[in-house]
Amino acid sequence: MKNFEQFIGSFSFDNRLAEVDIIGSVAHTQMLVKTKIISSSDGKKIIAGLKSILRDLQKGWQLPQEEDIHFAVEKELIKRIGPVGGKMHTARSRNDQVATDLRLYVREEIYKIIEMINSFQAVIVKKAEESIDIIMPGYTHLQPAQPIIGSHHLLAYAWMLERDKQRLFDCLKRTNIMPLGSAALAGTSFKIDRKYTAKILEFDFISDNSLDAVSDRDFAGEYIFDLSMIAMHLSKLSEEIIIWSSVEFNFIKIDDKFTSGSSIMPQKRNPDCAEIIRGKSGRVFGDLMAMLTIMKALPIAYNRDLQEDKPPVFDATDTVKLCLGVITELMQTFSFKKDTTLKSTEKGFLQATEVADYLAKKNIPFRTAHGIVKNIVNYCIKNEKTLDSLSLNEYKIFSEIIDKDIYSFIDVKNIVNAKVSIGGTSKKSVVKQILDLKKLIKGKR
Ligand code: ARG
Repeated sequence: MKNFEQFIGSFSFDNRLAEVDIIGSVAHTQMLVKTKIISSSDGKKIIAGLKSILRDLQKGWQLPQEEDIHFAVEKELIKRIGPVGGKMHTARSRNDQVATDLRLYVREEIYKIIEMINSFQAVIVKKAEESIDIIMPGYTHLQPAQPIIGSHHLLAYAWMLERDKQRLFDCLKRTNIMPLGSAALAGTSFKIDRKYTAKILEFDFISDNSLDAVSDRDFAGEYIFDLSMIAMHLSKLSEEIIIWSSVEFNFIKIDDKFTSGSSIMPQKRNPDCAEIIRGKSGRVFGDLMAMLTIMKALPIAYNRDLQEDKPPVFDATDTVKLCLGVITELMQTFSFKKDTTLKSTEKGFLQATEVADYLAKKNIPFRTAHGIVKNIVNYCIKNEKTLDSLSLNEYKIFSEIIDKDIYSFIDVKNIVNAKVSIGGTSKKSVVKQILDLKKLIKGKR
């Protein structure tokens, strides 16, 4: 086979680990010096060489291609400082090295994604503040159910992403454990000081079993699962943006730059960005499947299959960051169309539950009240009326208990503001959610 080396290697995709690989090697070398496994003058040469490679990489220079990033860095180091560079790999294997690199990479990306979620949540909260006077239909089964405040609907997404953030913090606990020092699979006979290396690299713990440590990619699977949840939540929001911006709903406005026209139909304004985010969730779920499948039948310890862990980790990371960036920008331009959302509350008998509650509060068993209101709604449908346009006499056909206070009871604004239960849609509850979320965005729970 002509491209056998390329097939077996991973340089084409793992060179993005260059920086963490060098950071890991610097720490490992410091430990080798501290434990007197190598001399301090050799250590100094190695560290200076590694740092010069890092500086060049940061300027845009690229490492010559090798089988993988670890060989590429080592070969370049030896080229720059001579054979002493080969001492860097004492008491280490690429197996514990690559596992360490990937953990360092995932840790950094988790922090970046958490920051991006914070920015997204801040925009949602701002939009919720702007939408406090929006009254709109709330849906179940995508059928009109009860009126709600626009902010309440938006904030649901801030809470979803809050859970995503907490999941990432939790994933950090299992990611931030250092495998370095496990060597190929069995540990090493050199008197290394793993805790010292872990301290330099800011790992919270060191792994307890070398066999497990070199083959453990659970953290990567968990990380992609967490990203899948984010992608799924963003896909749901995108779906709503798509529905809300349809001519039939016409609930919202977003900037034209997030839509595109059609090459044939001049009137079209398609919500492409939201559709692409919805579509990209599939990629991320695919990455999760790939990761789980790579791990599922591997005998302990390292197997070369594990090299295939990187493309799904990188792809899921890139995709979710891209989508988070776009949706945050898109939502900055989002607004509800106040008149259309309010007008929509006139359709679908959104006040029906309220009429039943009205009766229940006047001591009619809720089940009976439910039946009465069902009859009222059927009457309305037959006579093309709404619950607010029924006269008191018409109401009284169905129940003598109904009085003229029914009209203020079923006013949509009164309905939403009466939902004062914690987490309900009243203005009071929405304001509380906004305050709570602002605290969560700033701090870590
Ligand atoms: N490029 C490899 C990977 O990403 C590095 C580890 C190779 N180890 C080995 N024993 N062949 O997994």
